[in-house]
Parts: sequence; C-alpha cells; structure tokens
Amino acid sequence: MRTKGSVVLLLRSWTNSTLCSVSTSAGVMDLRRFPSWRVALLLLLMPCGHQCVSVHILNEEPLHVIPSSSLVLKASIQPGPLEKVSLVTWERQAETGIAPTTETLATCPGDSSKCSDMRPNVRVNVEQQGTTLQINGYSKEDSGVYAVTVTDHRGAKTTAHCIVREYEPVHHVSVSINVTHSSLVCGEAWGTDPHFSWLHERVAISTTVGKVSGDGSMLSVTMTPICGHFTCLVSNKMGYSSATYTAAPCETEGRGMTAVVVCLVLLLLFGGALALLLWRRRRHNNRGDSLHERLEETI
Ligand SMILES: *[C@@H]1O[C@H](CO)[C@@H](O)[C@H](O)[C@H]1NC(C)=O
Repeated sequence: MRTKGSVVLLLRSWTNSTLCSVSTSAGVMDLRRFPSWRVALLLLLMPCGHQCVSVHILNEEPLHVIPSSSLVLKASIQPGPLEKVSLVTWERQAETGIAPTTETLATCPGDSSKCSDMRPNVRVNVEQQGTTLQINGYSKEDSGVYAVTVTDHRGAKTTAHCIVREYEPVHHVSVSINVTHSSLVCGEAWGTDPHFSWLHERVAISTTVGKVSGDGSMLSVTMTPICGHFTCLVSNKMGYSSATYTAAPCETEGRGMTAVVVCLVLLLLFGGALALLLWRRRRHNNRGDSLHERLEETI
C-alpha cells in the first residue's frame, strides 16, 4: 500500500506540472478526464509497463508566438527496446469552448519521413529521435492545445500536449498612487511577458527617489514630498507603452532659480538708474563750469 501511495503522489505532481506534459494511454481513452489516482491505477495495470514509447514536447509551456512568425514545436520520441513507431500524428484543439473540435495537422507513418500535411503552411517531419511541427505565418486561429500522438506497432498510443498562445503586445498601461503606502503601482492589461521600468523626470530611478519592487510593477517612493513626473515604461518583444503619474511640481529648485533671476534684474535696474543719475549730474556741472568761464572772458 505504501508504495502505491507514493506512486499516486508522484503521478499527481506529474499530471499537474506546468511544463508540456505527457500523458500515456493504452488505447484511445482520454485519461485527463479521470481523477489522477485512477490514471495511476491504469498505468500500474498497463500491459506495456516501462516498454511504452515515451514522447516529450521540448518547448516550454505555454508557448507564445508572435503573429505572422513561425511556430516550431519539437518533440522527442523514445521507443522502448521492443517498440516500433508506426504512426505519428499532430493535432490541435481550441484551448477553451464547450466542445472544441480537433483538427489533424499532419499524419506520418513511422517507417518513412513522408508526412501528409493537411495545410499548405504546415510542415511536419519525423526523424530518428523525434518529430518537428512548423507552422509558417502563425495567426490567432492557430492558438490552442497541440498534441503529438505516437502509435506503436501494437496500436498503443502515447500523447504529449503543449499549450500555444498568441504573443500579445503591451496593452493599457496605467499608473496609480497608493497614498497610504507612498507607492506607485503600474498596471498592464494582457500583454505577454511585460517588463516594467520607472523614470522620474525622464531619468532612471535613483535611491533618493525610490525603490522598485522585485517584479518591477511597484515603486516605493522615498523622496518627500512626492513631486514631479513618474513614468512607468512597460515593454515586451513587440514594443512598449508608458503611462505617467504627475505629482505637484518640484518647487525648491524652480523657486531658487526665479529668485536669482529677479535679484539680477533688480540689480541691473538699480545700477542703470544710478549710472543715469550720475551722468546727468556731471553734464549739469560741466555746463555750469563753461558758463562761468564764458562770463569771465567777457568781463
Ligand atoms: C496600498 O498598498 C498596500 C500594501 O501593498 C495594500 O495592502 C493596500 O490595499 C493598498 N491600498 C490601496 C488603496 O490600493
């Protein structure tokens, strides 16, 4: 009983894993519909034991593909010592929906590398140790759960799955302030793999301004009072978008500059007025002197 329990536990963690998962089935049953302990039981009772063909999709899940680029899925196939691969099929199913239909993308007989691709932009090949699916000009409609199924010479099937989604550009960036915690929070709607960075007055955040959280989406502001423009820049492979939070203008510097300018102007005006006064007084004196001289001459 003890060993069975540990096997069940192992399988539970295995079936819940977020990497491209493998589900092995005898026949055509979809084991994902069963609770994992039943899957475990079925696997324990399966006739092929450890001699089953094993299939793994090597891409990490979920795989995001940029529209109009190429989707490439690689799977490794390891037949047991007594197994021979007789058929490899690639299928796609919508990820959501009540009754998603399954579309067969390609079927390849195991003994030759000639695959029948169902669509012109689909290429599948089967090699010694694996199989590759390539879809050129990826579009949103190509998203879904991809499945590669290997059938051995006795008709036993092994399937591996991988979720594929469209790579989305950055959407709806916003910055909000959390007044009670002196922090700014940057939000982004549904872009794939967003990376956050912050600027204060168009300069990277220094420790005197604040501290950015680990994932980058939050800025704890340390400067007091909070002033100026805080910009959150969100980017991914398809581009970037930004939003700015505008606090009260940073006054200390601005006010100092204004005071200096006003002082200079006043000083100039005062100096000018003084110079004018002196000049006029001298001219007056000069004229007085010359009058005096002329009077002296006539006498
Ligand atoms: C402010 O931030 C704290 C800590 O992150 C959080 O608990 C609180 O709910 C936030 N307040 C608002 C109004 O978002």
